[in-house]
Amino acid sequence: METQYNLRKFVPNDLQAVMQTNRVCLPENYTDFFFVDLHQRFPETFILAEENGKILGYIMCRIEVGLSNMGLGGLMRKGHVVSIAVIPQARRRGVAQAVIKKALEGMQYYRAKQAFLEVRVTNEPAIALYKKLDFEISKTINGYYSDGEDAYVMTKKLA
Ligand code: ACO
Ligand code: ZN
Repeated sequence: METQYNLRKFVPNDLQAVMQTNRVCLPENYTDFFFVDLHQRFPETFILAEENGKILGYIMCRIEVGLSNMGLGGLMRKGHVVSIAVIPQARRRGVAQAVIKKALEGMQYYRAKQAFLEVRVTNEPAIALYKKLDFEISKTINGYYSDGEDAYVMTKKLA
């Protein structure tokens, strides 16, 4: 029988493994300070999937305050999915779906009313994943990425 992965929060000792996962999966990479800072500020939304001591994937997020675009006016907390990735050998096993669901709970713990993220308009696997979790495309940002590609902003209302 195939072993199952566990979900847990990031701890500082995971830094190198998570940075390596990020590098193999995405062209958007960050300094070690960036990862550590997000963990220090928002530990409940920095989630890992692990199997037999190996990191299969991660999600890290930031809580931001912005104008409500849900018809209420005023300011609202939003959970921003900054980065999510799963190593190629562990894809299509529900890892991304599991870490996002856990991070959405963390966003609600921080009293965020909405989750959002940017995704490359050509990133079909990721767009399909977010649609499956009821994120909707709310706008396009032209030239968002450093290579000039456009981003969709996708949002999901939190209960
Ligand atoms: N093609 C079509 N649909 C897909 C695909 C795919 N390749 N991958 C996932 N999905 C959809 C399916 O609906 C899938 O459900 P199903 O397997 O029952 O059909 C659902 O998403 C859940 O899939 P998971 O198994 O949870 O996804 P996985 O663990 O494979 O990770 C991810 C998906 C994170 C997009 C992975 O492919 C990856 O790491 N890609 C490279 C990094 C990346 O693009 N990250 C997102 C950038 S945007 C951002 O970070 C905000
Ligand atoms: Zn972003």
